[in-house]
Amino acid sequence: MNVTIRGRSRHHRTVSFDAPTNSVVLVEQRLLPHRFELVKTADYRATAAAITDMVVRGAGAIGATAAYGLAQGSRAFRGRDLVRFEAHVEKVYQALKHARPTAVDPVNAMNSIRAEMSAGGTVAERQDIAFAAAMRFADEDVRHCEELGRHGAPLIRDGMRVLTHCNAGWLAFVDVGTATAPMYAAQAEGRKFHVYCDETRPRCQGASLTAWELAQQGIQHQVIADNAAGFLMSRGEIDLVIVGSDRVLGKTGEVANKIGTYTKAVLANRHRIPFYVAIPLSTIDWELDSGLQIPIEDRSGDEVLGAWGVLPGSGKRPGQRAYVRIANPTSTARNPGFDVTPPELITGIITPHGILKPRELKKLRKQLPH
Ligand code: MRU
Repeated sequence: MNVTIRGRSRHHRTVSFDAPTNSVVLVEQRLLPHRFELVKTADYRATAAAITDMVVRGAGAIGATAAYGLAQGSRAFRGRDLVRFEAHVEKVYQALKHARPTAVDPVNAMNSIRAEMSAGGTVAERQDIAFAAAMRFADEDVRHCEELGRHGAPLIRDGMRVLTHCNAGWLAFVDVGTATAPMYAAQAEGRKFHVYCDETRPRCQGASLTAWELAQQGIQHQVIADNAAGFLMSRGEIDLVIVGSDRVLGKTGEVANKIGTYTKAVLANRHRIPFYVAIPLSTIDWELDSGLQIPIEDRSGDEVLGAWGVLPGSGKRPGQRAYVRIANPTSTARNPGFDVTPPELITGIITPHGILKPRELKKLRKQLPH
């Protein structure tokens, strides 16, 4: 996406790879919307730490970061011994896999890269395959998001008010985004609409990231408190909901997404408002039998007990990032990062192969090459 800072526009991907320095290049998302900065991770451990610390976040973006991290770790191996190389790759894989638990994209991306790598007869060949496959994963992520735009754009008609939750925009992917793809495509087709961004406590990805993206893209929007959606729905002020996902179960159609998504799906159902989930194929988990088996990330209670923001700066310089305590000093908090929405609350899943009912996803697997 094009980012305009002080009147200068440049195209950026959220995640990319710098081959000469063998480093992963990331948009530092913790500083947004106050500062736009790119950072490089020097080795696979730093790449895994960037995922854990949420320098990069969002299912597709951490999928591509893990893919690049696997290539980065593989390329850093010195020697020709295939057995030792494979033990090293396993260590890299495990570090990246465990960086964050809920999104399935990193695991899907790395599994397909490792399957390709096994065709290489030497360490050097496997390193080259890992690099090429990671680049292809990132490009495919962009292509899938563009397809979501093509399939999802007709859902957004002129004058509509669309609600989205958290950030499933280009910052959550390599580019374009999933929930935002239909919005960007509808805008390109000349339609005018209004987006409500749930602020998405506790980390406020909606207020900080989605609102920033939409502002960059020139899409009319407003941030609302997480608790405001029900009121707006009851007054007929929301026409459509589109969200992303971190893991969709291919067998059942259950959708894991940022905490609060389930609440919005229940509300949308109560008010007969269409509720769509937009995903690339890498977000589908074909293994699990039930949403109860999805590993839900338990995050630090500090996120609930306080909030991060930026202090007033001087002149054009933004101030320092700072944490303020909101809750009673002696209280603790519980902070599940994601929830699971059942298929009966979902109108359709927007996929690169078209819009399907959640329980129809199974059909998709048969059409896939692998
Ligand atoms: O904790 P995050 O910011 O990595 O959570 C991911 C998300 O932003 C959302 O759950 C999003 O809606 C799906 S990611 C495409």
